[in-house]
Amino acid sequence: MENKKEKRGQFSSKLGFVLAASGSAVGLGNLWRFPFTAGANGGGAFVLVYFVILFIIGFTLMLGELSMGRATMLSPIGAYRKLKSKYAWIGVLGVAAGFLILSFYSVIGGWVIRYLVKAVSGDFNVTDGAVLGELFTDFIQNPLEPLVYHGIFMALTVLIVIGGVAKGIERYSKIMMPSLFVMLILLMIRSLTLPGAMEGVKFLLIPDFSKINAEVILAAMGQVFFSLSLGMGTMITYGSYLDKEQNLISSAMEIPLIDTIVALVAGLVILPAVFSFGFNPEGGPGLLFITLPAVFSQMPLGSIFAVIFFVLVLFAALTSSISILEVVVSYAVDERGWSRKFSTVTLAAVIFVMGIPSSLGQGLWSHVRFFGRDILDNVDFLASNVFLPLGGLLMCLFIGWVWGVDKAIDEVTNHGKLSFPLKGFWTVMIKYVAPVGILFVFAQATGLLELILGAK
Ligand code: PHE
Repeated sequence: MENKKEKRGQFSSKLGFVLAASGSAVGLGNLWRFPFTAGANGGGAFVLVYFVILFIIGFTLMLGELSMGRATMLSPIGAYRKLKSKYAWIGVLGVAAGFLILSFYSVIGGWVIRYLVKAVSGDFNVTDGAVLGELFTDFIQNPLEPLVYHGIFMALTVLIVIGGVAKGIERYSKIMMPSLFVMLILLMIRSLTLPGAMEGVKFLLIPDFSKINAEVILAAMGQVFFSLSLGMGTMITYGSYLDKEQNLISSAMEIPLIDTIVALVAGLVILPAVFSFGFNPEGGPGLLFITLPAVFSQMPLGSIFAVIFFVLVLFAALTSSISILEVVVSYAVDERGWSRKFSTVTLAAVIFVMGIPSSLGQGLWSHVRFFGRDILDNVDFLASNVFLPLGGLLMCLFIGWVWGVDKAIDEVTNHGKLSFPLKGFWTVMIKYVAPVGILFVFAQATGLLELILGAK
């Protein structure tokens, strides 16, 4: 046991940890997924529901996951096993979610690399929206090219994960994450000053209540889990690398706050531009890739900004993808006793193969559709809207009723050394409000709620 502990890397400072954990949270979920999911789900209505769910789940579950990780110093499955061995399967669910998410995450990461290459070669000197749309579809429909980039993204992820925790991640996060934020602010200013941009702002920020329905609520819940990296044990893993002196409570507030600000700013980059250039807000996963080049074309030094921006997006995507792979790898290392190198390479190869259908589903296999969605959307839906919230629900119940809030509180207060004024609030949230909330959304989305209410 001692031996195992010694081998675990640790974050060397609080800032390093918050940056790394925010690095996991901030990624394609904020920059790519949030704007197009908001766009497809009624804009302001979605954002409003997002905030309600964020309030219920964000801090509650973030603190829960971090506490489990640091209390056990183990990866998700090991953490459940150590606290109550019967429940190790909840961790398995998280590892499964990790496989699914990384499989399509890497495909989109590949798209980012392709766009970075395009930016470097100055391919963006096009202002015509239709042409930008075509450039994008031509690329994703090509059977081979996106797969090559998917492979490159996965290879980069592997290289970083093999490098270990503190060394690999922390060093770069300190420069790259703040730079990304500065860049986003610049882009937001450009976007907001485009003609007709205010339509996009209104669309994103003023809720049309008539648009709130079960589908929108489920989408918002999935987005909260996805964006905060919650529900599959990512934050258990990160908590396990944290030393016993650090303050989990403030971290559990800072990470969701940072993540949300970045998502909103990204929304305020993309949607005003969508309206200004006359794109369709319901344009789906291509929204970022079609809209941004148009914004760059309207900026002085736009082609240079484009290069810098896509480098930063790639970095943000990598700091998230490594956290997903980390969950899967730490399971193999802690539970199966595989070597770190071997697990990383083998599992990444498996996940790469799993991602192939999502990529081909954009072109060659675009006829393969279930529930009106292509393959990638289905994998995303299953992982983000089903597995993550389910994992989160089980985790709340586990912490609240099996492990026990007292033990969790003992851990997060560093055994009574830190004060935790929100103790009562957190207890009620994790035992009752969050699980009931998640169940409610599931019941509503499956029509069960109507059935129950209707039967009265
Ligand atoms: N939160 C990450 C993002 O926004 C994605 C992610 C999901 C990471 C689940 C880890 C676990 O890009």
